[in-house]
Amino acid sequence: MAMGKALADWVDARLPVSEAMRKHMTEYYAPKNFNFWYYFGIFSLVVLINQLVTGIWLTMFYSPTDAFASVEYIMRDVQYGWLLRYMHAVGASAFFAVIYLHMFRGLLYGSYKPPRELVWVFGMMIYLVLMAEGFLGYVLPWGNMSYWGAQVIISLAEAIPFQVIPFVSAERATELGEALTTWVRGDYLLSEATVNKFFALHVVALPLVLILLVVLHILALHEVGSNNPDGVEIKKNKDENGVPKDGIPFHPYYTVKDFAGVVVFLMVFAAVLFYFPTGGGYMIEPPNWQPANPMVTPDHIAPVWYYGPFYAMLRAIDFNFILEAKSLGLIVMGGAIAVLFVVPWLDRHPVKSIRYKGWVSKVALGIFAVSFVILGFFGTEPADKEFLAISYGDWSKLFTFLYFFYLLFVLPFGHRFEQSKPVPDRVTTGGGH
Ligand code: HEM
Repeated sequence: MAMGKALADWVDARLPVSEAMRKHMTEYYAPKNFNFWYYFGIFSLVVLINQLVTGIWLTMFYSPTDAFASVEYIMRDVQYGWLLRYMHAVGASAFFAVIYLHMFRGLLYGSYKPPRELVWVFGMMIYLVLMAEGFLGYVLPWGNMSYWGAQVIISLAEAIPFQVIPFVSAERATELGEALTTWVRGDYLLSEATVNKFFALHVVALPLVLILLVVLHILALHEVGSNNPDGVEIKKNKDENGVPKDGIPFHPYYTVKDFAGVVVFLMVFAAVLFYFPTGGGYMIEPPNWQPANPMVTPDHIAPVWYYGPFYAMLRAIDFNFILEAKSLGLIVMGGAIAVLFVVPWLDRHPVKSIRYKGWVSKVALGIFAVSFVILGFFGTEPADKEFLAISYGDWSKLFTFLYFFYLLFVLPFGHRFEQSKPVPDRVTTGGGH
């Protein structure tokens, strides 16, 4: 025991381990009224670790120069290879599921509002990197959907309207787009060179960036402290020792609570993993069980579900307006992501949490969330399918409008059209002292 203490003191004199434990765990005071929505940060962390660990093991058997066959080898011959592969593939979908719910919590409780703007901006950077990481990973098995998905996405570089840059002619703009596409592919056609390049980015470059961003995300959060479902700043009410009256030490109280949540999450994850690993074709699409084939286009090229909303927005723009439809679509899709970055500055509502906002905000957030989900569904379906004699592509125009309407109109001006409830000084749930 004494030796253990001596060793701890020796380390502490050289590295502030105890200090960090206190600052981030035992003396990090989190609001005592966290609810269900506050589990998704820790779930994101669990899925991140799952992706890193299973990814490292897959890398031991995967080969970018014999991509499709090496994945078949993992699935059939490597001991528990199927488990590793499914944990990683289901993990990718789980990542987006928990991240979307985590982001929605931010919108519900105004967690991006001052002083947490940077927490949100780091979050958005994570989201962007995650989208790139998911895309690169999907190409690696080199199935037929990997091939055609990559074809569609990489050729988007040709839709970048370089001609809007002064002194760049339309011909030069086309040349630039083509040069960029060739550079991204690393070849004149999609090929092994592309898979090699994507492999390096997927297993080394982006994971490093992701880990760095997650560390910054949590450091920024701990600097300002967590928000909560009441949107009350607990640091405004401290006791004589400077401890927030509505706060409880993160460790042991929330570590224990999070542990229980993680167990339930892992049960759900395992259920999907063992009984529903392809997610009915939404997580691993049927054409991906066939090798990449430039001569055979899948009947219907669709992205994995988590890119659905943005893909639907891209396709919704099928008309020219100043620019060509494909460039306009790219701008709308890019804009849909870019606008999320500036949500902390768009939202001018005096109230943080949805609990105390009026009905306009509540209904509008509901419509926004439903629009996003519907767009997600449309994105995975053929654009010319119809509902009530209107094509999914045309419906997508309406829901894309609603998406932007919430962010660009309701967030800045919604409060003018509603009566908010008074916000309490102290949190209202979580038991009293
Ligand atoms: C790998 C991805 C991510 C990980 C591991 C992660 C982790 C966490 C953790 C552990 C927390 C504290 C617990 C909680 O409040 O749930 C948190 C809070 C937060 N995260 Fe993330 N996060 C990730 C991505 C994102 C993204 C994409 C966004 C938004 C764009 C985001 C926005 C926030 C915000 C605003 C908070 C503060 C919430 C509050 O205090 O009410 N995070 N994150």
